[in-house]
Amino acid sequence: MVTIKSKKEIELMKEAGRVTALTHKALEEAIKPGITTAELDKIAEQTMKKYGAVSAEKGYDPGIRGVPPYPASTCISINDEVIHGVPSKRRVVKDGDIVSIDLVALKNGYNGDAARTLMVGNVSKEARRLVEVTRQAFFEGIKYARKGNRLGDISHAIGEYVKSQGYSVVREFEGHGIGKDMHEEPGIPNYGKAGRGIRLEPGMTLAIEPMVIQGKPNILELDDGWTIVTEDGSLAAHYENTILITENAPEILTIL
Ligand code: MF3
Ligand code: CO
Repeated sequence: MVTIKSKKEIELMKEAGRVTALTHKALEEAIKPGITTAELDKIAEQTMKKYGAVSAEKGYDPGIRGVPPYPASTCISINDEVIHGVPSKRRVVKDGDIVSIDLVALKNGYNGDAARTLMVGNVSKEARRLVEVTRQAFFEGIKYARKGNRLGDISHAIGEYVKSQGYSVVREFEGHGIGKDMHEEPGIPNYGKAGRGIRLEPGMTLAIEPMVIQGKPNILELDDGWTIVTEDGSLAAHYENTILITENAPEILTIL
């Protein structure tokens, strides 16, 4: 079921979104060559705590046999890692890396979900273009995130824009409704047909999250059961915000 949030719930979603954005801000300020992904994870955990939230990712159980609960507070995926990279003391950020950080702050029972791909030091022109196109894909998509439009309008806009830029969208993972649960209905693919899918209504809160690969769309899962990498070794980027459908333009809840 797709939930419509009440006024009170929307206030709580906005607060969870604000903490999510503040946590990203702290990470943007802290990231530099030499820092480990475990250190970044710690900063995220502390920032969420400071603002009265916890990570909804830590301990998240996907309910798949043999997959352990998610062990960290954030997902940090570097270069050819697409999503769900597990922070580690052994993983050091280097100059020129693109670092995708995906985090979900849970506060007062509601979730805010956002991802950014950060560029560390001297990033190649090609990597920079990938990161910018991925961010723009989100904004192309939300042009259609309006009352009365169909969900497929958003998916289509994202997919076509990414294709027009010569990149691939990931097909196995998608955006989602969000609220009391980190993942609610509907699923929101980053490709699809315009004019299809549910109609958007004020009070829906959605996590829109283009995951874009420089090369072929194919992905692989590493043996840790979490980390997703590109099959061809090319770079990947991720950009996500939690948005609210309104009577007019959507509100982005995870940007300060
Ligand atoms: N935050 C991710 C999303 O955008 C989900 C992460 S899965 C977890 O939907 F296991 F890491 F929590
Ligand atoms: Co999400």
